[in-house]
Amino acid sequence: MPGVFQLSPDQAAREAEKAHALGVPAVLLFGIPERKDEKASGAYARNGIVQQTVRLLKRELPDLVVVTDVCLCEYMSHGHCGIVGPEPGGGVANDLTLPLLARTALSHAEAGADVVAPSDMMDGRVAAIRRELDKHGLSGTPILSYAAKFASAYYGPFRQAAESAPKSGDRRSYQMDGANAREALREVALDIEEGADMVMVKPALAYLDVLYRVKTEFGYPTGAYAVSGEYSMMKAAGAKGWIDERAATLETLLAMRRAGADFIITYAAAEAARWLKEGA
Ligand code: PBG
Ligand code: ZN
Repeated sequence: MPGVFQLSPDQAAREAEKAHALGVPAVLLFGIPERKDEKASGAYARNGIVQQTVRLLKRELPDLVVVTDVCLCEYMSHGHCGIVGPEPGGGVANDLTLPLLARTALSHAEAGADVVAPSDMMDGRVAAIRRELDKHGLSGTPILSYAAKFASAYYGPFRQAAESAPKSGDRRSYQMDGANAREALREVALDIEEGADMVMVKPALAYLDVLYRVKTEFGYPTGAYAVSGEYSMMKAAGAKGWIDERAATLETLLAMRRAGADFIITYAAAEAARWLKEGA
């Protein structure tokens, strides 16, 4: 991805410090382990890459809000977001995956994460994570749910950057069908019932109608995730001189706010913060 790199914990701390100084209030962490396996061991390792980085960030930048992406795909040798098999046909086993997600979220919260954000789209994961956190005295750690997450071609650059593309098949059995907006509303309702503190719509730009409906229908803290493909398109057109990258990026972020986003997760955060400062 243009301008996006895999970082060591100390490099991540320096990047976060720069972004924070520009006015970015929070970061979202993704991890890439040294080794991948079929039970995503690196995801919930006490000294895993995300756990280490959370501890470092909270020590060096206590005012920065640290959110962790809770999923297994980056840690699985097959690249899926959950346990594969054991049923014949080898689909993702929803219920076998829940304890691993809960364990991952707990390890992030124990390391000091301010917010945990499950992105796997297994059914029941918000409830499973909530129960696990509460059981360990972490009832104050909020859950930001990737509630309406569509199966999307716009995740391509992320999967390359995170080395997390599924080795076979796709994610359509757990991510949502772009043709179905009402299902997105049902997913959001379920996540809120299960204890989500904030919900998110992803991707953002191609799903602004869903974002608007989620905010209007539930009045809940709602985020938009401007995903890797959205960012990469803008960068590519900007680099070619085909579009005014700054103006178009800010216009697009404004559209997400207008559609109802209370907060936006974007790879352009630091740049946008700088542009907004310069403009003001
Ligand atoms: C992991 C995860 C993905 C993204 C966020 N968390 C990849 C995926 O679901 O394939 C996508 C982020 C992006 O494209 O910017 N489940
Ligand atoms: Zn995943």
